[in-house]
Amino acid sequence: MPALPSLLFDCSGIQLDPARGLARQLYQALRERILDGRLAGNTRLPASRELADRLGVSRNTVGRAFDQLYAEGFVQARVGDGTYVAELAASARPPALQPSSPAPSAALQRVQAQQLRVPPSGAPRAFRVGVPAFDLFPFETWARLQARFWRKPSPARLGYGDPAGDGQLRELVAAYLRNSRGLHCDPAQIVITCGAQQAISLCAQLLVDPGDRVAVENPGYRAAGHAFAAAGAQLCGVPVDADGLDTRVLEQVQDCRLVYLTPSHQYPTGVTLSLARRLELLEWAERHDGWIIEDDYDGEYRYNGTPLAPLAALDRQGRVLYVGTFCKIAFPALRLGYLVLPAKLAPLFAQRRALDMRNSEIGTQVVMAEFIAGGHFQRHIRRMRGAARSRRDALLHAWPAQIPGCAALPAVDAGLHLCVRVDSLRRETELIAAAAAVGVEINALSGYWLDETAGLADQRAGLVLGFAAVPEAQIAEAVRLLRQAWAD
Ligand SMILES: Cc1ncc(COP(=O)(O)O)c(C=O)c1O
Repeated sequence: MPALPSLLFDCSGIQLDPARGLARQLYQALRERILDGRLAGNTRLPASRELADRLGVSRNTVGRAFDQLYAEGFVQARVGDGTYVAELAASARPPALQPSSPAPSAALQRVQAQQLRVPPSGAPRAFRVGVPAFDLFPFETWARLQARFWRKPSPARLGYGDPAGDGQLRELVAAYLRNSRGLHCDPAQIVITCGAQQAISLCAQLLVDPGDRVAVENPGYRAAGHAFAAAGAQLCGVPVDADGLDTRVLEQVQDCRLVYLTPSHQYPTGVTLSLARRLELLEWAERHDGWIIEDDYDGEYRYNGTPLAPLAALDRQGRVLYVGTFCKIAFPALRLGYLVLPAKLAPLFAQRRALDMRNSEIGTQVVMAEFIAGGHFQRHIRRMRGAARSRRDALLHAWPAQIPGCAALPAVDAGLHLCVRVDSLRRETELIAAAAAVGVEINALSGYWLDETAGLADQRAGLVLGFAAVPEAQIAEAVRLLRQAWAD
């Protein structure tokens, strides 16, 4: 193709701001014109002196811009003949007028269909759900342990690590679960994850084939449902009563081999799965050759009575996948959790995780291991449990005895949140909107249900309040604001 003369080069519209790097701006302006086709392939660029004169900049500036374009392949130098715009492949240019993108895959469409809600970020407020008293975290101790590790990290720990997680941390988690939950497992069964959510997502990736039925609590933890649905599962909501997930209904779900649940403190209703139901569930898994995912997201928070043994501790058949997290004891941004897996699954989960991220960042794992080994973790659990109990008491104490359309607060023996029923969806909306208007955050119970129960609309209504996020004085103040807002 014959060269296009530099006369065709139009530099009107190139505005350079003398307060910023001129060469960079010129490079960007030329690159943009080459990419969008205003400067066609084979166009001869003006000589650097000429372009410098036309733009009122130094020749050096033009030279540096050309050098960058040359280095990136946007222009070519022809010996004795000047600088030419390179012929770019069509794919290098952005689409001209009508952007068209490839048809979305089924996986993309499944994610799009979920309408995910990301948890609120920013400083905690009353009554944010899912957030512990992280104002009490011993950051100085953590910083000291971090500094100690990074000052002289062992070279053995700086290469690619074990995708199952740091060995020392897995040993300590195994010992912790043995002592605190009566859950006996080998460290080889543990896979460290980025929080409980990644643990659930791994289960979804590896145990679900598109079209499979997965039973979930209804109401329940929607982000778990989303993870299964994103893997192609068909969700089957199983109701929850005073004993937890209703195993008689589960039994009627046809062709289902996987159930996800929160036995120690059902999310969001707060009930505990009874021992009888635990045993029934294990029998169900055996009969159906199924799996149980036990999410023990806030198991450290129990205020009265002895906790029931986790399903994983009762499991004799290797059918329970146990999910734990450090994010509800430390702080959510830590992103550290774990799975305890049936022995035959553990290496496969670690391999799958290696495909996602090779291995977790080493510093956090090592420091958590040191934090546990030094006794700080156990101390912190006691501190957090005490704080959550006292924040719970502050809420129970301040809460109005009578709120029209709203049931009395339940007894709260565990966890970081409580759930109270409301007469109707209309009333739920009213109460939550009035609370939001005075800066108090309350979740709608109706948001935790699967859509399939839309017919029971008013029975879905309620308020979900996290009581651990802020100290007692802020709780009392929030309730004072609510009293006013709800009286108007
Ligand atoms: C029931 C339940 N499971 C899992 C998680 C996720 O926890 P993590 O922050 O460890 O991913 C949450 C968070 O709120 C939760 O409520």
